[in-house]
Amino acid sequence: MVKPLLVLGSINADLYVEIDALPKPGETILGRDGAIRPGGKGANQAAAAAKVGYPTRFAGHLGNDAFAPALRAELRASGADDALLTTVAGPSGQAYILLQRGGENSIIVAPGANHVWANSLDAELSAAISQAGALLLQREIPEAINLQAAHLAQAAGVPVVLDAGGSDDGPLPATLLACLAVCSPNETELARLTGMPTADDAQVIAAARHLQAQGVGTVLVKLGARGCLLVRPDGSTLHQGVFPVRVVDTTGAGDCFTATYTVAMLSGMNEADRLRFACAAAGICVQRKGAMPSMPTRAEIQTLMGLHE
Ligand code: RIB
Repeated sequence: MVKPLLVLGSINADLYVEIDALPKPGETILGRDGAIRPGGKGANQAAAAAKVGYPTRFAGHLGNDAFAPALRAELRASGADDALLTTVAGPSGQAYILLQRGGENSIIVAPGANHVWANSLDAELSAAISQAGALLLQREIPEAINLQAAHLAQAAGVPVVLDAGGSDDGPLPATLLACLAVCSPNETELARLTGMPTADDAQVIAAARHLQAQGVGTVLVKLGARGCLLVRPDGSTLHQGVFPVRVVDTTGAGDCFTATYTVAMLSGMNEADRLRFACAAAGICVQRKGAMPSMPTRAEIQTLMGLHE
């Protein structure tokens, strides 16, 4: 039997407003459409993996507010198992998203329930980690929780994938880096993690190798409109460009990419096919508004890949 992918992370209500330009300090501007959509990096990644048909469990914390029922319902609708999504007292996570024409966004996160954790993982979650096919993490829950989960996974021989999106905490603890089979930052996150410049491919590769010197296996760098660059443990690289599509909202596209890459890896695809699959998945996500609801099905990904053969 296939062991499930376990995604441990955040779930947020994404409060959108569409704008032409960011307001200046002290300025009030009029936005266009406003909307509330389900998101959060962890839940987005769980939804993306589940929607392509991979058995997926999501573990995280939801508040007991008015947002919570719709967030849980959207996660379930994706096909992800929500038995490890725990309700805690207080507000759910919220993300305030300013969406500009062309799909670029600026996001502020109020973590709410995502940051309400006991000091150690409970027995049920610990067992789920040890029995998973892989553990997928981001940086929107307390780092101490990620660290415990990663150590448990490593001890059980479960590969750990970290999407480095989610906070401005700077460098990751060396003990976490040493647990990572795959680390997937974008260029900005890679610069923040390493303190190194990432302005061009040579600098990106040097920064990726810096992470590998600290124990990370594969570094998978998201390059936005330039696609992605995979840096293998031996330092060799593989590039994949984006699929030419009309971008309306980039929110969640990085989550979609990391999750579908992880599914492709667990499904035994070769590296080139994994990158193509994940870039096509992200290429569908950016054509729709919202994060969790924009995750594509496997059939949609295959159609986009076929169109650009
Ligand atoms: O990666 C996109 C996500 O970041 C959004 O869904 C928002 O909730 C923030 O966590």
